[in-house]
Amino acid sequence: MKLNIALLAGDGIGPEVIEQAVKVSDAIAAKFGHEITWTPAITGACAIDEVGEPYPDSTHEICMAADAILFGAIGHPKYDNDPKAPVRPEQGLLKMRKKLGLFANVRPTFTFPSLIDNSPLKRERIEGTDLIILRELTGGIYFGERGRKDNGNTAFDTCTYTRDEIIRLAKLGFEMAMTRSKKLCCVDKANVLESSRLWRETVQDMEKDYPEVTVSYEFVDAVAMRLVQWPSSYDVLITENLFGDILTDEASVISGSMGLMPSASIGLHTSLFEPIHGSYPQAAGKDIANPLATVLSAAMMFEDAFGLKEEAELIRSVVNQSLAEGVVTEDLSGDKKAYRTSEVGDWLANKIK
Ligand code: IPM
Ligand code: MN
Repeated sequence: MKLNIALLAGDGIGPEVIEQAVKVSDAIAAKFGHEITWTPAITGACAIDEVGEPYPDSTHEICMAADAILFGAIGHPKYDNDPKAPVRPEQGLLKMRKKLGLFANVRPTFTFPSLIDNSPLKRERIEGTDLIILRELTGGIYFGERGRKDNGNTAFDTCTYTRDEIIRLAKLGFEMAMTRSKKLCCVDKANVLESSRLWRETVQDMEKDYPEVTVSYEFVDAVAMRLVQWPSSYDVLITENLFGDILTDEASVISGSMGLMPSASIGLHTSLFEPIHGSYPQAAGKDIANPLATVLSAAMMFEDAFGLKEEAELIRSVVNQSLAEGVVTEDLSGDKKAYRTSEVGDWLANKIK
């Protein structure tokens, strides 16, 4: 199969973790007889430095022409403490999501048998956890009207959702629940917010189309709590953009390290695959960051964008072997030897060959 993949390494540790995912993907392609064409494109702070714009049109064209996008991370500390910066790397990510119509962000949380004791939560609380948070990605408060009034002394951001935006996200949630344990949780704040009441009403109306799915409706504050108390009780959760942003960071550390969870963003055009962790600027260029979330994002890409399940399974299996054999970066090595980012990538690629 010919796979035409846009490669957006981005900022911080993005380039080095992406490099490992490329090694692993190339090894998979060689083994299974696929031909991958990687087309690199700039995004984030490095694109601002180069062309003054975090998601340039040239990058968008490459993304639109590709079959899938593999993305690293964006962000740079020089913008974080400068609220007045006229253009920010994160705007590139939002623009990319909007222009590519990536309305759904699929963020799984699962555990690795050999890492159970790395979790901040107790073993008995997390064993068996395998959940997916489906986050709405192109609406809500991230994209609503915002501004200042009162000579800059009052600020506002607005959260707006249309019924259609909720339906298309919820539909994916119901369909995903049908392929799993048929449990769906709609996360909202319907006791306070009107937009949440529209979410709840819309999902309730859809229930009749999926009679086999059991739907629960829970407030986001309660979900934040239950996620650390009893994560294995969840299966598929659907939620709006901001709640999803917060809950997926919370859920991602259950596995034992921030550097482990992959994600997919899907929608109207090319799908995008990226690690959940950010750009981790403190580690950039040091060859110490954990590449596994990006490698597992590549596995998701093989399976979801190309239907190549066996290839995806092989990647997951060598990742599990590396964890079991302690071929891990410093976030997971404890008092044992820490491998470098590039060494983990080489080890995985060699196992595949
Ligand atoms: C994420 C990130 C982004 C978000 C930032 C970088 C804009 O935190 O992908 O979760 O808030 O969506
Ligand atoms: Mn986030």
